[in-house]
Amino acid sequence: MKKSSHINILKGNIVHTETSKLFNISKNGYIVVQGNCIEGVYDKLPERYKNIEIEDYGDKLIIPGFVDLHTHAPQFAIKGIGYDKELIPWLETYTFPEEAKFIDKAYAEKIYKEFVNELYNQGTTRAVIFGTIHEESTEILMDLLEEKGISSYVGKVNMDRNCPDTLKEDSNESIKKTIKWVENCSGKYKFVKPIITPRFVPSCTGYLMEELGKIAEKYNLPVQSHLSENPSEIEWVKELHPDCKNYGDVYDKYNLFGQTKTIMAHCVHLTDEEIATIKKNEVVIAHCPTSNVNLSSGISPISKLLKKDVQIGLGSDISGGETLNMFAVMASTIKMSKLRSVCFKEEEKPLTIPEVFYLATKGGGRFFGKVGSFEEGYEFDALVIDDDNLWKVSKGSIEERVERLIYFGCEKNIINKYLSGKVLN
Ligand code: GUN
Ligand code: FE
Repeated sequence: MKKSSHINILKGNIVHTETSKLFNISKNGYIVVQGNCIEGVYDKLPERYKNIEIEDYGDKLIIPGFVDLHTHAPQFAIKGIGYDKELIPWLETYTFPEEAKFIDKAYAEKIYKEFVNELYNQGTTRAVIFGTIHEESTEILMDLLEEKGISSYVGKVNMDRNCPDTLKEDSNESIKKTIKWVENCSGKYKFVKPIITPRFVPSCTGYLMEELGKIAEKYNLPVQSHLSENPSEIEWVKELHPDCKNYGDVYDKYNLFGQTKTIMAHCVHLTDEEIATIKKNEVVIAHCPTSNVNLSSGISPISKLLKKDVQIGLGSDISGGETLNMFAVMASTIKMSKLRSVCFKEEEKPLTIPEVFYLATKGGGRFFGKVGSFEEGYEFDALVIDDDNLWKVSKGSIEERVERLIYFGCEKNIINKYLSGKVLN
């Protein structure tokens, strides 16, 4: 993004997480933004800034914007239904028939408008999003995100097996369309970029995955897909690719596993070998706890993965997940980690409040560069939070205010948003 040297100063209770270990807090502090990026956070404003006007947010909280690393825009109209089913029957009964409707550009525009408005209202400043196989509808989604100024990666989905005829692409057509789409939309937008998106191994032939790997390499594009979400899915992948050591190994075979920047959603049931490759290849995990509970997929070992220094962010995974509200996704992340700790009696401890806050901000933000924290040189993405309605008597400590916000926060609490140094409106 273009650099400028204009200086903005905001005052308030500044909260971020440089590491997942603890909050960095500046109570009644100052955040100095030069152009797009943060110059510094100060408890006391340095003399050299004394003539610059300050945006004083008083007792409000200033936190980094949320990063949603995994969500499906075309599933927005079917959120909150069909959760009596597990992944594969859910896809067949609800998801595939809904996504087939996106051949109709008018329908796509209607649903995508609702999705983008909601994403924006929920304080998500950066997102990584699945479209459908339909490249024209996917570009409508990209246009809408650009209009709102949400920094995002968007994928035209590829699938050429094990799906209804309405969504099944001819392999060569799928490849041709993807190249055309990539060439058409690369550089077209300021905020929105393409990402290569094989849906998941069961719906992509080896040939298609191999060609997508080549496209990702040739155009230096990131990759997103799903990995080890559900036990039946994993068994199916074993049957489809008996030559591969594990699910992740299939993507790795076709250069879709960290050869360019890669996000794998879910990763609930990983083998130790898979974890080692994820770490070695710097694959980023999108943890989607709301979806994992709704579709009875399981509980991902996030605490263990964090300890191994694997890169992790959070995903709302609409419509496996029911909400784009990242406060709610954070709360689910904590609750699931507690259940895992109690039920599996492993060494894993439940996640802490700073850990989930880190995952929703800097954890996912790393995929976008220097994003998700208020350290010097980071792009200034921020939310200004009014939490007065959450405290009937006097307010607690800043840490307690953030904790309560995670459990009760919603769009009403977000009174201003910044992306890369500019107010979003
Ligand atoms: N695996 C393949 N497609 C999907 C999808 O749309 N949602 C989820 N949760 N998992 C998937
Ligand atoms: Fe998903």
